[in-house]
Amino acid sequence: MDTLYTIEHGAIGDLDALVNIENEIFDRADSQLSRRAFRYHINSHNLLLVAKSRAGENTVVSGYLLALLHRKSARVYSIAVRTGYQKQGIASALLSSAIRAVSDLGIERIALEVKVVNDNAIKLYQQFGFSRRKAIPDYYPDGMAALYMEMPLVSQKMKTRGKSGEACTTLDWISMYVYQDAHQGAT
Ligand SMILES: CC(C)(COP(=O)(O)OP(=O)(O)OC[C@H]1O[C@@H](n2cnc3c(N)ncnc32)[C@H](O)[C@@H]1OP(=O)(O)O)[C@@H](O)C(=O)NCCC(=O)NCCS
Repeated sequence: MDTLYTIEHGAIGDLDALVNIENEIFDRADSQLSRRAFRYHINSHNLLLVAKSRAGENTVVSGYLLALLHRKSARVYSIAVRTGYQKQGIASALLSSAIRAVSDLGIERIALEVKVVNDNAIKLYQQFGFSRRKAIPDYYPDGMAALYMEMPLVSQKMKTRGKSGEACTTLDWISMYVYQDAHQGAT
């Protein structure tokens, strides 16, 4: 069947769309990511994934996930899906691609903070196996508490080879999984 969306690494060409998503989805009080911040993360070692959905002959960036990577842990800093594209499994595809990528890097746990009232996101994270750890009072600029959630990862740091038979670089390897996810995520 046709692919409705793909999951890819964010690129500089996605900057306008990423800023538009941020303006559409988050209030300024939610510490929106700026264009400069997105640019920084695209060029950094962090994981910025974008979902691209088909819109007629074109594709639009319909969502993104940003995970900050440390040696042993990763933190899902933000995830958002454009209003008209929600409830199609896009956040799930972004999250599963990210979890796979970070566990393949040997990272041992993944964590995040989410507003205690954000039931939809909490449900999403719980479906993936994140556990509620603690509430952090007064976490957000608007005074709202955060729920800290985390999940241990099974390290799958193993050697793999690219389609051409040559050893993959780390990023190639991530792209390969992300590409596969895009097709598995298609309905
Ligand atoms: C939370 C968000 C990222 C989910 O994106 P999505 O692409 O619609 O999510 P999915 O379609 O992959 O849904 C996965 C699961 O999330 C939960 N969920 C997502 N949207 C939901 C909704 N409107 N109502 C109830 N549950 C919802 C459900 O458990 C759903 O699984 P199900 O379809 O089997 O019920 C999206 O609603 C969003 O961008 N919200 C605003 C930004 C935000 O809150 N980000 C998270 C905190 S930074």
